[in-house]
Amino acid sequence: MTLFLLGCVDPGGHAGGNGHDAGHDDPTHDDSGHDSASAPVELPFPEDRASAGGLLAGTLVAQSLGERLGYDGASPGPTLRLQVGDAVALTLQNDLTDTTTVHWHGLSVPNDMDGVAFVTDPVEPGATFDYAFTVDRPGTFWYHPHVDVSRQVDMGLYGAIVVAHPDDPVPDRDLVLVFDAEEEYEPEEETIAADHDGELHGGVDPSASNWLVNGVAQPTLALSPGERVLVRVVNASNAGYLSLTWPGARVVGGDQGRLSAPAEATEVLVAPGQRVELEVLDGQGNVEVTTGMWTPAGGAAYGDPQPVLFVTGSDTAGTPLDYVFDGASPSGDPSYADLVYTFQGGSDDEPWLIDGESWPDVTPRVVTAGAEVIVEARNLSATSHPFHLHGHRLELLSVNGVPPTVARWVDTVDVPIRATVRMKLLADNPGSWALHCHLLGHEDHGMMTILEVQ
Ligand code: C2O
Ligand code: CU
Repeated sequence: MTLFLLGCVDPGGHAGGNGHDAGHDDPTHDDSGHDSASAPVELPFPEDRASAGGLLAGTLVAQSLGERLGYDGASPGPTLRLQVGDAVALTLQNDLTDTTTVHWHGLSVPNDMDGVAFVTDPVEPGATFDYAFTVDRPGTFWYHPHVDVSRQVDMGLYGAIVVAHPDDPVPDRDLVLVFDAEEEYEPEEETIAADHDGELHGGVDPSASNWLVNGVAQPTLALSPGERVLVRVVNASNAGYLSLTWPGARVVGGDQGRLSAPAEATEVLVAPGQRVELEVLDGQGNVEVTTGMWTPAGGAAYGDPQPVLFVTGSDTAGTPLDYVFDGASPSGDPSYADLVYTFQGGSDDEPWLIDGESWPDVTPRVVTAGAEVIVEARNLSATSHPFHLHGHRLELLSVNGVPPTVARWVDTVDVPIRATVRMKLLADNPGSWALHCHLLGHEDHGMMTILEVQ
């Protein structure tokens, strides 16, 4: 653990007294366009929009904020705070100059509420769309457009969704931290080269180094003495993997709610699209939260871990809250699969492919509603891919045959280079569901298909 003391210089070269202004080894501020003045910036939080009497109703305006895009005047947009069983009735008002939609990442909404353009038409500029669904599972989710997705998400169109766990103790604060790496989207001509057939393919994904938390680079979070906080991390980056270390924190939840047992918050990989829930207790003094350098083209990369957040605290230890863990072991890997997806492509002469097909020229696979299906994702390419399925959750069974240490439910799971990942799916939500890579450049350049549940 790295402690830094106010008024001293920590080993990373950051002057503690004036916070964390750009050190010699810190490229964050060089081209960020943000004010890199020396005063530490306190971590801001998106506005909360909470349900009342079992309903969250209202309007969500997608709009330009000048250089960025946002919902209701902000990026991240409002945090939707819900209870299990709540109804959501939100009207998207498109004040952008392009079409858009809202996709509710991780929620099992009805198919025609999923915000994908092959089920419902994108919402035209000036038009509205009424989204209505109920939420049936606790966890941390997020919302973002599902058309023109690389550009719109990179420019800031996203927000968090919190569905409270009915059995949870109440922490002193329940905080949403949306992580994004700045300026990842580049117009096609800069990142995409045409091959001899004139096909488009994506470039190599660099490791992200310019992280923002709720829109701010390297902010400060102050804990009160003895405070117990639940931190919900959302990785809204197009292609940046977080390899998060939060000294003293423990991981209590993942993509789809509670883990079966808590885990230490050391080098927690949070791929684009994934979420992690952390219990953070005061008592560590000042703490530097870091991400290891990590690239989809090979995993852990050269370079020192970078601070993404500075937590100031005291030596008054907060008592862990009584989060309920069911202790279940992961369901065994059955060593077969009903559905196999191969992820390929990206070399000089091919687009990004699933099963040899590139969106939109895909052949939907079909499963029967109610079936329990073993899904296998095989990565035969030279970068990792975060596998994501809409409308469902899956239990992670194994990565290269090795089961996870604790049982976990996911909707987005990283498939490392040359790896095979098996998951168990209860296909209980009828419809045409997107299944794609959550590196948004890959998704935009072919790496998407459809799973029909009927
Ligand atoms: Cu977060 Cu298909 O998306
Ligand atoms: Cu990919």
